[in-house]
Amino acid sequence: MMEKHTDKPWGGRFSEATDAFMEAFSASVDFDKRLYRHDIAASMAHADMLAHVKVITVEEKQAITAGLEDILADIEHGDFAWSTQFEDVHMNIEARLIQRIGDVGKKLHTARSRNDQVATDMRLYVRDEIDHIAASIVELQRALLDMADRESDTIMPGFTHMQVAQPVSFGHHMMAWFEMLQRDRARLRDCRRRVNVLPLGAAALAGTGFPIDRGRVARALGFDGVSENSMDAVSDRDFVIEFVHCAALLMMHLSRFSEEIILWASPMFDFIDLPDRFCTGSSIMPQKKNPDGAELVRGKTGRVYGHLMALLTLMKGQPLAYNRDNQEDKEPLFDTADTVSAALRVYNGMLPAITVKRDNMQQAVKRGFATATDLADYLVRKGVAFRDAHEIVGRTVRHAIEAHKDLNHLTLDELRSFSPAIDVDVFTVLTPEGSLASRNHTGGTAPDQVRAAVQRARQSLLEGGA
Ligand code: ARG
Repeated sequence: MMEKHTDKPWGGRFSEATDAFMEAFSASVDFDKRLYRHDIAASMAHADMLAHVKVITVEEKQAITAGLEDILADIEHGDFAWSTQFEDVHMNIEARLIQRIGDVGKKLHTARSRNDQVATDMRLYVRDEIDHIAASIVELQRALLDMADRESDTIMPGFTHMQVAQPVSFGHHMMAWFEMLQRDRARLRDCRRRVNVLPLGAAALAGTGFPIDRGRVARALGFDGVSENSMDAVSDRDFVIEFVHCAALLMMHLSRFSEEIILWASPMFDFIDLPDRFCTGSSIMPQKKNPDGAELVRGKTGRVYGHLMALLTLMKGQPLAYNRDNQEDKEPLFDTADTVSAALRVYNGMLPAITVKRDNMQQAVKRGFATATDLADYLVRKGVAFRDAHEIVGRTVRHAIEAHKDLNHLTLDELRSFSPAIDVDVFTVLTPEGSLASRNHTGGTAPDQVRAAVQRARQSLLEGGA
């Protein structure tokens, strides 16, 4: 028997122990231990399959399963000493299994490699995160629907270029965010189809000579199918990149929403009041109430974008098949999942508790000639060509600015001095209410349309539709 220089599970061919710093450099257990539940579930399904195809006996499978169950309980009770000496979550659990149940534990790794094992764990993990994030998005969407329903008649200025553009229903504005989240959820659902494919069986890269039953493992773990190509299965992390990409788009939407919430909560707008519990104060200015929840969501969007870039760059230079580089996929993935979950949690707490300051919104509509387009459209209906109408209303607005009056406060004579086509019925279109009500088509801001949109959206959520 040759002298053993290292007690690593792969130590046989090595003639010296790993350098201490190299061991620390190489270890991932500090962060990949969070995969323990997925790792144990996959190992149990693998052991069950090995017994089914008679590569191990039923008794051996039972011993392995019982050992894994004990380890799971230990980890959940905080009684498991993770060790960097065993590199990662996979070898920590396997080493402990062998310690606990003896030599039979050494049979678990038959017909498997850490390469297909880690790919399997990662897919199980991403699948769970997708399901959890999608559920939080639905919760936020329901809050938006309640708000949109309640505020369908609330009128606010709609902006383009951050200038007052046209009056819109605040409910309509909320439904815009609902739609964005709807697409975010649809993207996650689509991503999930590609995530939910079993890599196990690919072994190191070429498959295995044992008579494995991959379909059985896939069914046990809830996968929709098995990977077609063993080399692809162990090497590509496109599913992680795709998930983080979905997360980046979701964060982009939450960041834009945060920007609006921050502006609206400012005394300059004063459209909403945020619940105190999602704000903080200033250490020097006693009057301050800062919208930190929204600001942090906006700020944390940057790190998710960064993770997307890190993962794309991680993958781009890798030849087939597995390379150790892929160990670097975990921290960006975990931080992305944590960041997105936290952002949604803040939103789910904050959004339903926002106070809408309807009067201030209504006042703001009156500043900025929000009904100018309605006046132009009115002239078109009276037979004026749109370009001419645009010019006429432009001159009318210039007059109103000089006269310090809103459009609907100009007299009929004043208005008629710009176009004889204007009649007394003009005043109905010059009110924000008239403006809103006229935009009465699918996708328009008329309060009736907003309520109909809310109803369709509720139905689609009930049916589980994306
Ligand atoms: N910790 C490794 C990872 O995250 C597991 C796979 C290691 N495989 C290997 N052949 N060293 O990718």
